[in-house]
Amino acid sequence: MTDDRKGTGRGKRTNSFEHALVLPTARVTEEAALAASHLVGMGDKNEVDGAATEAMRELLNTLDIRGTVVIGEGEMDEAPMLYIGETLGQGQYEVDIAVDPVEGTVVTAKGLPNGLAVIALSERGGLMHAPDCYMEKLVVPPPAAGRVHLDWPIEANLSVLAQSLDRDVEDLLITILDRERHESLIQRVREAGARVKLIGDGDVVASLAVGVRGTGVHALMGSGGAPEGVLSAAALKCLGAEIQGRFIAEDDAMRERFRTMGVEEGRVYKTNDLAPGEQIVFSATGITYGELLNGVRRFGGGARTHTLVMGYASRVVRFIDSVHLEDDKARVTIRV
Ligand code: FBP
Repeated sequence: MTDDRKGTGRGKRTNSFEHALVLPTARVTEEAALAASHLVGMGDKNEVDGAATEAMRELLNTLDIRGTVVIGEGEMDEAPMLYIGETLGQGQYEVDIAVDPVEGTVVTAKGLPNGLAVIALSERGGLMHAPDCYMEKLVVPPPAAGRVHLDWPIEANLSVLAQSLDRDVEDLLITILDRERHESLIQRVREAGARVKLIGDGDVVASLAVGVRGTGVHALMGSGGAPEGVLSAAALKCLGAEIQGRFIAEDDAMRERFRTMGVEEGRVYKTNDLAPGEQIVFSATGITYGELLNGVRRFGGGARTHTLVMGYASRVVRFIDSVHLEDDKARVTIRV
C-alpha cells in the first residue's frame, strides 16, 4: 500500500509493519485487560499487575515481531517478565516496545475508574528509553499543539489554549493528579480562572482524553511517571496532539542515571523527542470504567472489552468494542 500511495501526499510515511500489527496489538491489550479484570476490586495491586503482565507477554511472543522492551516492568533484576531489555517474539518485524500491562494498578485493585492496559510499538529507536523518574508534563489537544510551552507561565499557556479552542479560560477543564506536590499548580490554574479536574491515578488515559475531542477535558498539567510520558507521547503523536515533558531528578543517583542514559535535566522534550518513531502502533484497553474507554464488562461465560488502537504512519484510529465468548453459554448473552 505504501508504494501505491507515493506522490499522493498520503503515502509519504512508510507503514510496513503497522498494517500487519495494528489488530494483533489490540489483542495484546485486550488479553491483558481480560486477565486483570478477574482481579478488579480484589485489593491486591501486585496480583492485578502480575496477571496482566503474564497475559501480555504470552501474546507478544506470538506476534510476528522480534521485539525489545525499552519501557517495561523494571530492570531485569526487578521484574521477572517484560523487563527492560527482554526480547520477545521470533517473527520478522524488528520493534521496540513500551508496555504498562496495568496503568493504574491501585485504582484497578480498588475497582475505581481509569485502569488501563497499554502498549506502544515502534521501529528500533522510535521510543525514548526513559528512566523511571517523574516528568513534569503539559498535554494539549491538536488545535493547541505547537502553540504552548512548558517554560512559559501557566497563565500564558492557559490563555493560548483557550484561544486555540475558541473559548474563555473559564471554560477550560485541566486534569491534574491529586498530589500534595501539585498544591501550588492547582492554585495557580484556579486563580487564572480555569477549572480543575483532580484525578487519583492514571495520567496516560488522562492524556489520551485530552487528545480526543468531546471528553470535556482540555489539558493535563503536573508531574507523573516519565515512562507513562513516553507511552502518552506515542498515543498523542497518532492523534496529532502534543505532550511536552521535563525529566525530574530527585537525587544524585538519578542524575547519574540521566547521564548514562543521555537524558538532559531541564530540557523540554516534545512529542517527537519522546516518540520519534516513523511507525508507531499504540493500543489501550480499558480495565475499569474511564472517561474514554469502558472497562471490561464480564457476563456469564464471557466479557466485553473496549480498545483504542492506532497506527501513526497508516493513520489508523480504531475504537474496538469486542465480545469475547469464553464458553458456549455466553452466546445467549450478546447485546448490541
Ligand atoms: P501505576 O500504574 O504504577 O500504579 O501508576 C499510576 C500513576 O498514577 C501514573 O498514571 C502516574 O504517571 C503515576 O502513577 C504518578 O505517580 P505518583 O503516584 O507517585 O504521583
